[in-house]
Amino acid sequence: NGDDLAPTPPMGFNDWAGFECNDAMNEQLFVDTADEIVRLGLDKLGYHYVNIDDCWMQHDRDADGHLQIDRTRFPHGLKWLGDYIHSKGLKFGIYEDAGYKTCQGAAGSYGHFQTDADDYASWGVDYLKLDYCYQPTDQFPGKSAAEVAHLVYHEASQALANTGRKIVFSESAPAYVCCSGPNFTDELGWLADEGQLWRYGSDIADNWDSVLENYAEGNSPGLAAYAGPNHWNDADMLEVGNGGMTTNEYQAQMSVWSVMASPLLFSTALKGASADTIRILSNADVVAVDQDRLGVQGTIVKSTGDVDILSRPLANGDRAVVLFNKGASEQTASVTAAQAGFTGHARSYRLTDLWSKQITSTAGTIAASVPGHSATLYRVHRNASPGIPPATVVGVDGH
Ligand code: GLA
Repeated sequence: NGDDLAPTPPMGFNDWAGFECNDAMNEQLFVDTADEIVRLGLDKLGYHYVNIDDCWMQHDRDADGHLQIDRTRFPHGLKWLGDYIHSKGLKFGIYEDAGYKTCQGAAGSYGHFQTDADDYASWGVDYLKLDYCYQPTDQFPGKSAAEVAHLVYHEASQALANTGRKIVFSESAPAYVCCSGPNFTDELGWLADEGQLWRYGSDIADNWDSVLENYAEGNSPGLAAYAGPNHWNDADMLEVGNGGMTTNEYQAQMSVWSVMASPLLFSTALKGASADTIRILSNADVVAVDQDRLGVQGTIVKSTGDVDILSRPLANGDRAVVLFNKGASEQTASVTAAQAGFTGHARSYRLTDLWSKQITSTAGTIAASVPGHSATLYRVHRNASPGIPPATVVGVDGH
């Protein structure tokens, strides 16, 4: 659809990675999360969505074919919760599945897309993540898995459009059906016509190997080309704050996800979160990389041993360059400005380390000593070209 629903990757909260279907996945969690987002000023950085994942609904529909809310978890219902979230100036997201059941075995949406879409709209839903467990393949004899996915997601997308409410549509099909990389267009090129973002890979888990797996999937050859304003490759949730990784590892996930223009959906309880968790999520310079309006996904420009270097062009001509050390031991890594994608000559480059805030200058080599399981993230700014007096060039620093 032509709506400008996600000009930059969606940001906010989704409970799944942190809570799954635990008892703590309940109304209070979402109320507290909305409260804390505003209290901490995360809304001002762009964290707008408060999204419920699986397990909000009961196993069966009611006699009229409507989904039934799990009232133990959500005693006031979802209209009430949506109103509460909106009263905080935030947006409300929900989860369903395009097949017969959700991945947890609750009632799926297949065969009920319009009924469900109308219910979401009546609750004030602004965002739908539509999973793809229990696929209705048997309804489409002779069609390929990707064709079935297209038909099913198209029908769901139409149902959302019919409500007249603007609802961001997150499609999980590519995580289940075929392709990433070179075959993506042939099989799944329709995704951008139906929704604003899609999961392409594995479920994130709270450990370093999982971060590396989703990172690698996101860098499958050719995939980055499908990202852009209103159509994003979703690397899955941020595990920041969930306890299974080190501070450096969480900072690295935040860095790499931002360079990859992934949605930033954290999945930890903000109430009682550590200072490091808040510091990582609320780094405005890193968020600005993720949210850069040019909307180009960064790609790997150099790979040596355990270190990958990715570069992402930014709207003002700067580049975000991340030196990502996947291995356990400290590594010295470097890339030239030309390798990082800068063309033409520059007097020098100014590097801002977006975590330490240290500013340095270089004639052209972007380098750092990067601890194991860590990322160094720079914003690289080209200073005046030789021959052009610096004072005449907008944005050049004063020396
Ligand atoms: C799948 C999805 C997860 C989550 C669960 C819920 O595994 O990939 O993100 O939504 O289902 O059951």
